[in-house]
Amino acid sequence: MEVTSSSGTSSGKATSNAGNWKEYERVLLPPVKDLHKLDVYEDKGGYAALREVLTGKWEPATVADTVKASGLRGRGGASFNTGLKWTFMPPVDDGPRYLCCNGDESEPGTFKDRQLMEYNPHLVFEGILIACYAMSITTCYLYIRGEYADWITHMERELEKAYARGYVGKNIFGTDFSTDIVIHKGAGAYICGEETSLMESLEGKRAYPRIKPPFPAQFGCWGRPTTINNVETLACVPLIISRGADWFAGLGAKTLPGPVLYGISGHVNRPGVYEYPTGMLISDLIYDVCRGMRNDKKLKAVVPGGSSTPPLRADMIDGICMDADSLREAGSMMGTAGMLVMDEDTDMVKWLRRVSHFYHHESCGQCTPCREGTGWLERLVAKIDEGEGNLRDLDLLIDLCSEMEGRTVCALADAAAWPVRYTLDRFRDEFEAKCRPSSVPVTQLVTA
Ligand SMILES: Cc1cc2nc3c(=O)[nH]c(=O)nc-3n(C[C@H](O)[C@H](O)[C@H](O)COP(=O)(O)O)c2cc1C
Ligand code: SF4
Repeated sequence: MEVTSSSGTSSGKATSNAGNWKEYERVLLPPVKDLHKLDVYEDKGGYAALREVLTGKWEPATVADTVKASGLRGRGGASFNTGLKWTFMPPVDDGPRYLCCNGDESEPGTFKDRQLMEYNPHLVFEGILIACYAMSITTCYLYIRGEYADWITHMERELEKAYARGYVGKNIFGTDFSTDIVIHKGAGAYICGEETSLMESLEGKRAYPRIKPPFPAQFGCWGRPTTINNVETLACVPLIISRGADWFAGLGAKTLPGPVLYGISGHVNRPGVYEYPTGMLISDLIYDVCRGMRNDKKLKAVVPGGSSTPPLRADMIDGICMDADSLREAGSMMGTAGMLVMDEDTDMVKWLRRVSHFYHHESCGQCTPCREGTGWLERLVAKIDEGEGNLRDLDLLIDLCSEMEGRTVCALADAAAWPVRYTLDRFRDEFEAKCRPSSVPVTQLVTA
């Protein structure tokens, strides 16, 4: 992990990297009534970007280059440059190639892809189709979280309409480009959102992540070249084509530009999904966008990008923006921009206990450090929470994290370890306060 600071020093900057965000006009979720309906989407210029690309005779490579130039980075958690990822696909041969649109959305604190699918489904389809063209792909699987039953039905209904109007399927806009979109109901586990286990799940197998390399572009679905992108990532693509790479690159934070959906939950007055440019000050999101803390309580902690990203103490967020550089400086990560806000009454040990339970429950069990480690983490945090822990358990927790981080097939083990390591580091007094009074640090025992 790229976190450089665990001490809580903030940069002291007080300016947002999101520019004049109060004047920002939404593009991913614009305030248009019934935008999910195909007629309305068309009226608002929908599918024009796809038309432009296909009938304006853009070369597939030009589309990928444009997306690369825009600086779009994946919104699924890892923030990888999208256009660059597309260029990893090998040259076309006789066999099939696939795109997987990742709508598994299971990380606690993350609920923004659902909004896109509900309110702007055709933007997602249009992004998928343009991505397929850029990579010469003829089948995309849209993998939607199994528990999102209503959204699956909704997407299927809208997809049928897009097929009927000729936007999806054979010879789109009368060109020789044909692409199918297949909606796939997720298998109901957090691990299905990890890109390689998503492909295993699609193939009808148990969702065990694969060892990388080979990467999906070399060996993906059914062993064929495959690219996996998040729903929100692909929804940005038609906007880049219609408004230009420069527009996108100039919006928000320089190194992670564009519009982003901030999913804000917890102890704020108005939790919800808010669209603004990247680079918003965390304090603006809490005190302005979300109308402040519930019951005027004091802020205690912010988890900026989904439950796996390290929590920041209230005194660490001063001047910190929601972008890769600023959050790294503060000691956390952008993740999915699913921000959890906790007030002064929050018991951080209990919070960590809940989070550790989740990762233990969701470990697929394939690798020992994760299968055993997540269980140990949960049990130890529970022991401390119940007043049965001692100070050596705190050291043991950190040792366990070190045995898990970077030693497993996929990043779930890291996602389980980071909240433990950084919650303990930044809220240690709360853990110590719950330890048995008789407990003595090992060093003192040795001296005695
Ligand atoms: C345990 C785990 C769960 C994940 N869940 C999701 C998910 O629900 N949705 C998602 O888009 N990415 C998820 N990811 C990240 C994907 O592996 C992958 O990086 C992402 O879908 C790529 O899309 P992007 O480049 O557009 O962000 C998960 C990763 C891990 C390790
Ligand atoms: S790290 Fe955990 S979730 Fe990932 S493959 Fe290993 S056991 Fe499974």
